[in-house]
Amino acid sequence: MIRRVLITGGAGFIGSHLADELLARGLSVRALDSLHPQVHGERTRPAYLAREVELVVGDVRDPVAVRRALEGVDAVYHFAARVGVGQSMYEVTEYTSVNNVGTAVLLEALIERPVQRLVVASSMSLYGEGLYRGADEQVHTNVVRTSTQLLRGEWEPHAPDGSALVPVPTPESKSPTLASIYALSKYDQERMCMMMGAAYKIPTVALRFFNVYGPRQALSNPYTGVLAIFAARFLNNKPPLVFEDGLQRRDFVHVKDVVAACRLALEVEEAAGDVINIGSGQAFTVVEVANRMARVLGKSIAPEITGSYRVGDIRHCTADIGRARRVLGYRPSVDFDAGLGELAEWLTSQQATDRVETMRAELASRGLSL
Ligand code: UD1
Repeated sequence: MIRRVLITGGAGFIGSHLADELLARGLSVRALDSLHPQVHGERTRPAYLAREVELVVGDVRDPVAVRRALEGVDAVYHFAARVGVGQSMYEVTEYTSVNNVGTAVLLEALIERPVQRLVVASSMSLYGEGLYRGADEQVHTNVVRTSTQLLRGEWEPHAPDGSALVPVPTPESKSPTLASIYALSKYDQERMCMMMGAAYKIPTVALRFFNVYGPRQALSNPYTGVLAIFAARFLNNKPPLVFEDGLQRRDFVHVKDVVAACRLALEVEEAAGDVINIGSGQAFTVVEVANRMARVLGKSIAPEITGSYRVGDIRHCTADIGRARRVLGYRPSVDFDAGLGELAEWLTSQQATDRVETMRAELASRGLSL
């Protein structure tokens, strides 16, 4: 019987939403979080974190903090990680340390204190390019775009013989193509948890998250993806800047659906030992996303197609969520337009809330309010 759950990284975007979901189901939730300044600004408990969450401020690499956080816990969600893809390419030591060593420390602690379930946050980033199908119906698993191609503005990847490729939803069986230290570290986290889970009989599930979006995605957080960036541009009456030609496709999944999947990963016995994609099952191009968001926000601002590109960007990767449906009974439910509207609404209110909090703190520090 699972009563108390530890979420490492539980003060973050996905972790805090998961905490809400688990609390609503009557579970006790503890979060171990370092409150990293890049994500949290001030090292204080975030206002959005539910009051009932017991927050242990500490580093996942600190065995003492981890052991303390594990006391009395029946299940663990391992979400603590540094999450900037680009940043991982220069802060190599830091990313490898937090993500890989942090996972190692947690797993060593779990040997002494096994739990009934371990759920680890993995990432679509480990796929690199998604799966493609050629004209001859052949499946291509190892597609890459060369820098020469990109310099010429040839955005779509081609088969080795130059023929066209069509992107198809990517299943878990696609072999990883690791293109960043971040992706490598996420793959390591996933493999380490699955391996140790099997060795020590800790039922473990790895969830490969696609492009997660929703409220609490801090703009200063490098994990913040294209949706929050675009929303912020629209709200400042500026056009979103679209890389390449805007026809690259992604699977945007709302954080509400993600936490539903996380809960199922805890409850569904048969999920143990599985690696499962979590996406919406729908693919949208970046330009479609910009246009939809403009409509939802009532802005008549067209996106600016820049024709420039980010080194290391993939062209298309969308989720095959067949396994999540079959094994977890996962059914994504958030309509994309509704999700976009909610994200934008949160972004507008965020500053207001922040000011209210600051004002309250200022008053309190002067003894003018409680
Ligand atoms: C990457 C990671 C993913 C991580 C996510 C958020 C890979 C393969 N995936 O996803 O694990 O969860 O970052 O950190 O490394 N774009 C624009 N204009 C912008 C910003 C982005 O056009 O202002 C485009 C990008 O070129 C890209 C798409 O939007 O084609 C999505 O970008 P982003 O939201 O950063 O996420 P990914 O690159 O898909």
